[in-house]
Amino acid sequence: MTDPQLPPLAPAPRATAPIVRPRRLRTSATMRAMVREQEVRGRQLILPAFVSETLTEPKPISSMPGVVQHTQDTLRRAAAEAAEAGIGGIMLFGVPAERDARGTAGIDPDGVLNRAIAGVKAEVGDALTVQADLCLDEFTDHGHCGVLTPTGAVDNDATLEIYAEMARAQAAAGVDVIGPSGMMDGQVAVIRDALDGAGHLDVAILAYGAKYASAFYGPFRKAVDSELQGDRRTYQQDPANAREGVREAVLEVEQGADIVMVKPALAYLDVIRRVRDTVGVPVAAYNISGEYAMVEAAAANGWIDRQQAVLETLTSIHRAGADVILTYWAVEAAGWLR
Ligand code: PBG
Repeated sequence: MTDPQLPPLAPAPRATAPIVRPRRLRTSATMRAMVREQEVRGRQLILPAFVSETLTEPKPISSMPGVVQHTQDTLRRAAAEAAEAGIGGIMLFGVPAERDARGTAGIDPDGVLNRAIAGVKAEVGDALTVQADLCLDEFTDHGHCGVLTPTGAVDNDATLEIYAEMARAQAAAGVDVIGPSGMMDGQVAVIRDALDGAGHLDVAILAYGAKYASAFYGPFRKAVDSELQGDRRTYQQDPANAREGVREAVLEVEQGADIVMVKPALAYLDVIRRVRDTVGVPVAAYNISGEYAMVEAAAANGWIDRQQAVLETLTSIHRAGADVILTYWAVEAAGWLR
């Protein structure tokens, strides 16, 4: 029972603070665009492209719907189209007719990759940066990124000598940017030295600073008809190690890398961010074959909206800190991002 002596209750104070309403900034497309924090641009995208020595017409890559192995001719046309689309560059990968233990075709000035560099450069001039993968795995019959010791280990320093020669050959063919992807220790210093020694002071190095031993490379290995048995875990990094990725990126900057790359991208967005916050050079990320194939497969099944998923993928990689993105969607996405 209430005590008649007590004074009446004061009105209850307001129980909660007024609701904060971030939704006000989402009320229209114009409002959302006005407050958007960042936007990836077509000029920041690089198209990876494959060129085969044996084909007479382009061959679809079954594991990467929409991507082909080109002939020299169709590659030049694809490069012209990429330039037209306003993307930043094209990264070339060669698929040679012959492979051997030392990857000799990679240093042959007349080899498939070096011819592709010269052909594309002649086609596009400075309208695209012409970039080339510098690695042995496409050229070796065992599929490793370097030469092997008699016991089958990947021989770091012997591989570096071949990388130096490859770098000179690519530069002589007219490459603008070299992308060493083999994860040999000291590769950037050796390549820089080889380029400088041959007078190629302006050829830039986009170093794969943090490259992880990833299951998501699977479709790529089909794309280059890789012969690899086993894995690359003695040279590519353990997916568990983010700090080590930063360390490798820093080492490559110290050796003269002009741009450092994190690869793959989606499963390593934290590494992209950490590298971006640590180094002073531009950071690239490679939206790799498996990331591409997952979206394409889900979209083909009608499970996701393809265009939205592609743009969300590229936006997330950019938001994580990548200044430059290698993506098989480069040309199409540049069209959407105009
Ligand atoms: C090695 C190389 C690979 C990729 C680019 N460079 C494959 C590997 O390390 O096994 C993968 C690219 C992709 O998956 O899209 N030369």
